[in-house]
Amino acid sequence: MNAPFSLASSTGPKNELIDMRPLALGKTMTLPPAPLPLARPVALRPRPASRARHGHRGLRAAAVSLCMAMATAVALAADTTPARQLERFAAEAGRPGQPEAGRAFFTRTHGGAWSCASCHGEQPTSRGRHASTGKAIDPLAPAANPSAFTDTTQVDKWFRRNCRDVLRRECSAGEKADVLAWLGSLR
Ligand code: HEC
Repeated sequence: MNAPFSLASSTGPKNELIDMRPLALGKTMTLPPAPLPLARPVALRPRPASRARHGHRGLRAAAVSLCMAMATAVALAADTTPARQLERFAAEAGRPGQPEAGRAFFTRTHGGAWSCASCHGEQPTSRGRHASTGKAIDPLAPAANPSAFTDTTQVDKWFRRNCRDVLRRECSAGEKADVLAWLGSLR
């Protein structure tokens, strides 16, 4: 019954993007109500309603399809996990990350005005607040933010930028491993 969706997802996210749109946009109103190997019966069977109503349903289907396509695109940007990032920095440092060292590193200043906690908070399971712009920052701890540390480019970009702001230099691999070990231990 749900063949187009299970077929599409089993062949990967790219096909899903291509396959869903024609189904949602084109076939919503034209499919006969007969036993269709391809139809999702609840969503696609025509109801005894006016043409205009079906028009709205088509639009809504298009919007839903677009949202799903965008969600898939966001999901594709995620190329890693917090655990793999911790492994990466620990391997580079040649030692495991130490949570307590990470907590101490994160919450103290390093000769300048800011600590990491100045923006991310001392409890990074909660949202932070940018120390100069006041803008809200999503929690840094993976337990409180499923998208934290899921994109290698973002991880590297922000470590570089924030470490320079706080320490006037880049963080070492060991410091990054410690911070990640601490963040990963938070619940
Ligand atoms: C001046 C404010 C500020 C300070 C200080 C700061 N950060 Fe950040 N940090 C941010 C912002 C803003 C983001 C981006 C958040 C987002 O995109 O949701 C961020 C993101 C990050 C990320 C990316 C997380 C991910 O999901 O990829 C890491 C890692 C990070 N910060 C580590 C640190 C560390 C370590 C320190 C201390 C050395 C620190 N930050 C200090 C503002 C700050």
